[in-house]
Amino acid sequence: MTLLFVILVLLSQGRAEAARASFPPPLPELAPPDAAQAELGRRLFFDRRLSGDGTMSCAVCHIPQEAYADGQALSVGYPTNKHWRNTPSLINTGYLSSFFWDGRSESLEEQALEPIHSVFEMNLDPDYLVARLEVDSEYLARFHDVFGSAPTRRTIAAALAAFERTLTVNDTPFDLFLAGDKTALSPQALRGAEIFFGERAGCARCHSGPLLSDGKFHNLGVGETDELLRDPQRRATRNYFLRRMGVEPMERDPGRYAVTKEPADLGAFRTPPLRQVAQTAPYMHNGSLETLEEVIAFFDAGGGDDTNRSPKLHPLHLSDAEKEALVAFLRSLSGAVPIARPPMP
Ligand code: HEC
Ligand code: HEC
Repeated sequence: MTLLFVILVLLSQGRAEAARASFPPPLPELAPPDAAQAELGRRLFFDRRLSGDGTMSCAVCHIPQEAYADGQALSVGYPTNKHWRNTPSLINTGYLSSFFWDGRSESLEEQALEPIHSVFEMNLDPDYLVARLEVDSEYLARFHDVFGSAPTRRTIAAALAAFERTLTVNDTPFDLFLAGDKTALSPQALRGAEIFFGERAGCARCHSGPLLSDGKFHNLGVGETDELLRDPQRRATRNYFLRRMGVEPMERDPGRYAVTKEPADLGAFRTPPLRQVAQTAPYMHNGSLETLEEVIAFFDAGGGDDTNRSPKLHPLHLSDAEKEALVAFLRSLSGAVPIARPPMP
């Protein structure tokens, strides 16, 4: 009996050590963006003149106090429109190499102009924005100071991207732990990390690397929500978007498929990075899961129902204590969010 107990303890210690060996390396430092560009980008980020009717700024949807997400299942849209996807946090987007839930944009600079001209986000032709900014003597002077010329689409995008590169969080308890502070994680969160990076739960099969994302696209079988199926405004926005991407409208969000047209990518979305995740509920590309507990229950059940579901998912049979430990680990991924403020009028 005692021998069996000793063997069991040794086995579980072995597993914990194996899991710890697969913890990711610490998040590398990002090269700091040019401070003057980032400061100009901050002004643009909060400026409602970046939208057609002067009501929308980036910060209306990416709210600094909400970790630059918005706390809603589905994003609001340009007035009289509604968006059909969840607003992602902008924390650590400076590290990413593909943007949007479907990865259709490949740099922060390329991404930045999209919401401006998108009819369901800010609805302003970027060329018209250039014309608006160059007759504003303050902006004109600032663009000259920072970029040596009047504003252009390229420099507007560069300034916004520089600002976004300042939005990093790399001081979470988990980061401190990875940097060597063995007391930074509570025992429960450490147990959660071992489960997360261990073989059985296998979260790190996709949430790998320092950002906890492989940057790839997977179909988890996250189902459509009633709101998406029923709300004509959200469906209209999605149908319009899909046609623009060269895909016939369908009764579901095809995710990555709209970009690659590969049947294997139907319903696949980019693995989200997880820093600050405790602050960015609701979860998934359509905000269909409200809490971290629901997310864990979803993975414990092996994901949702979809013929194209990733083979990396299967029922996990986690105990209640293991589920709670996973949630404690996910909560240890939050640190101090840099809160940018709008410039004084
Ligand atoms: C109407 C709300 C809204 C506005 C305004 C808005 N966004 Fe977004 N943003 C979203 C939504 C929703 C997504 C996800 C869309 C998708 O994946 O298809 C997104 C995605 C992003 C992403 C990609 C993040 C990632 O993890 O891939 C970045 C970066 C971003 N927005 C920056 C900006 C900037 C900069 C502005 C202002 C120029 C802006 N957004 C304006 C709602 C908005
Ligand atoms: C097969 C790859 C894969 C595995 C394995 C996996 N995830 Fe994910 N995870 C994803 C993808 C992809 C999404 C987004 C899916 C979507 O929106 O449709 C996601 C979403 C999430 C989210 C929501 C994040 C947000 O911002 O909305 C959390 C939290 C999360 N995963 C934690 C976990 C945990 C904990 C495990 C292990 C129990 C796990 N994941 C296993 C790929 C994976």
